[in-house]
Amino acid sequence: MAPLALSVLITGSSRGIGLELVRQLVEVTNPPEHIFATCRDPDGPRVKALHELAKKHPSICVIKLEVENQSSVKAAVSVVGSHLKDKGLNLLINNAGVHSMANLETVEQQELLSVFNTNVVGPILLVKEFLSLLKKAAKESPTQELSCSKAAIINMSSIAGSLERGLKDWPFSMYPYRTSKAALNMVTVCMAEELKGDGILCTSIHPGWVKTDMGTEQAPLTVQCSVEGILKVLAKLSSSSSGAFLDWEGKNIPW
Ligand SMILES: NC(=O)c1ccc[n+]([C@@H]2O[C@H](COP(=O)([O-])OP(=O)(O)OC[C@H]3O[C@@H](n4cnc5c(N)ncnc54)[C@H](OP(=O)(O)O)[C@@H]3O)[C@@H](O)[C@H]2O)c1
Repeated sequence: MAPLALSVLITGSSRGIGLELVRQLVEVTNPPEHIFATCRDPDGPRVKALHELAKKHPSICVIKLEVENQSSVKAAVSVVGSHLKDKGLNLLINNAGVHSMANLETVEQQELLSVFNTNVVGPILLVKEFLSLLKKAAKESPTQELSCSKAAIINMSSIAGSLERGLKDWPFSMYPYRTSKAALNMVTVCMAEELKGDGILCTSIHPGWVKTDMGTEQAPLTVQCSVEGILKVLAKLSSSSSGAFLDWEGKNIPW
């Protein structure tokens, strides 16, 4: 089986879906040569499992990256660039995210701004700063067809941000989270359109309702099952799925 991508960068790798993506990527038959597992506090107590994994697998490089902090993003670009030497970055997974259940009575400006900063501003900044490495990867690829092995951006969205399905599936207002994921979906559509000429794919993925700190123990889906599905979906992405909103099983979600 061809590798999903030679190089992958994942934000929010300290725990949850991000950590499981790293865990499964090192175990696939043809693993990436470089897995840049980024987290905002690499020396913190939450990152122990990631460091243990990195000790066993030299392809994992743990890098500090706080998504809404532009100087942190720039510093990460420089570390990634020095590891890749003259090569580009194939796959950027904007996974880091924060949740907020605030409703119209409880919502505060600061919380709205903070959630938007992480869930929307962060992914845009990441792509802006990593764009030259993504473009380089796309140019190096011998094929025309868009794919994660060529160059791709994956935005970890949520069905909660779907205008059509969000409130039906989740009858809570959740203003900061819902609106940030709806905005992230627009980011996906804009980037897919703007970057297709550069050979870069961009897709929004809903991971399902997953048992993580964010999803809670009530979630029906294990993180292992969600990530197995996501990796299968990523392996099949092509030009026709760029600019799409898919779930962890590859089904289209209405915007
Ligand atoms: N779990 C679900 O049911 C579900 C459903 C739909 C969508 N999603 C989406 O899937 C993604 C991952 O969710 P999850 O369930 O794995 O969440 P999680 O268990 O709460 O983990 C969130 C991750 O994001 C990181 N993060 C938060 N703010 C950050 C920042 N400013 N800079 C860098 N990293 C930051 C956290 O780092 P720290 O450890 O440092 O806090 C952590 O690694 C999110 O985008 C989420 O919205 C999840």
